[in-house]
Amino acid sequence: MQPTVIAPSILSADFARLGAEVDQVLAAGADWVHFDVMDNHYVPNLTIGPLVCEALRKHGVSAPIDVHLMVEPVDRIVPDFVKAGATEISFHPEASRHVHRTIQLIKAGGCRAGLVLNPATPVDVLDWVLEDLDHVLLMSVNPGFGGQSFIPATLDKLRVVRGMIERCGKPIRLEVDGGVKPDNIGAIAAAGADTFVAGSAIFGQPDYAAVIAAMKAAVAA
Ligand code: DX5
Ligand code: ZN
Repeated sequence: MQPTVIAPSILSADFARLGAEVDQVLAAGADWVHFDVMDNHYVPNLTIGPLVCEALRKHGVSAPIDVHLMVEPVDRIVPDFVKAGATEISFHPEASRHVHRTIQLIKAGGCRAGLVLNPATPVDVLDWVLEDLDHVLLMSVNPGFGGQSFIPATLDKLRVVRGMIERCGKPIRLEVDGGVKPDNIGAIAAAGADTFVAGSAIFGQPDYAAVIAAMKAAVAA
């Protein structure tokens, strides 16, 4: 198990004041910035790209930027995010024709690589590539929108993937994304997650520090 990471999803931030929002959430105790990239093709929504990632770096953000690519195809956008200052880059296997090649491309750029499993994606997609990954990201909602409810079956899937990671023996993070809140994060951590994405639960409250502290306390309990 890796040290706990709370990664607020800026999908739920106020985009008109994005730099200030990111500064505020990091000052409130966030560890990473989760950066959702949607292309209106792989998922039915359109968000932000490498220019915004680069703008956050120019603004002075030094925390890890956890880029979650919900785009198809994946490979041609990876070098742009490497240049823009991403530190973690995750992608969906359904959106890559050659999953192993995409992992190598991310790592060749000096970033950490993650594979994202949708709620209905079987865990055997991890066979043969798990040891090449730095993290596995389990979607606990269908990708495309913030503010959805956590799908309970994710807890069983987390336990299965935690077992796979333990058997593999490498320091691979297990990240969960979608519907994570102070009142369910304890159960999610107990099922094996160590890295927690939360959008609406954090940015939907006025006191970011209080929510992040409540989440960290529930994970540690
Ligand atoms: C959904 C995104 C998530 C989303 C999470 O496709 O990948 O990162 O922003 O939002 P909440 O925490 O509101 O479910
Ligand atoms: Zn995400």
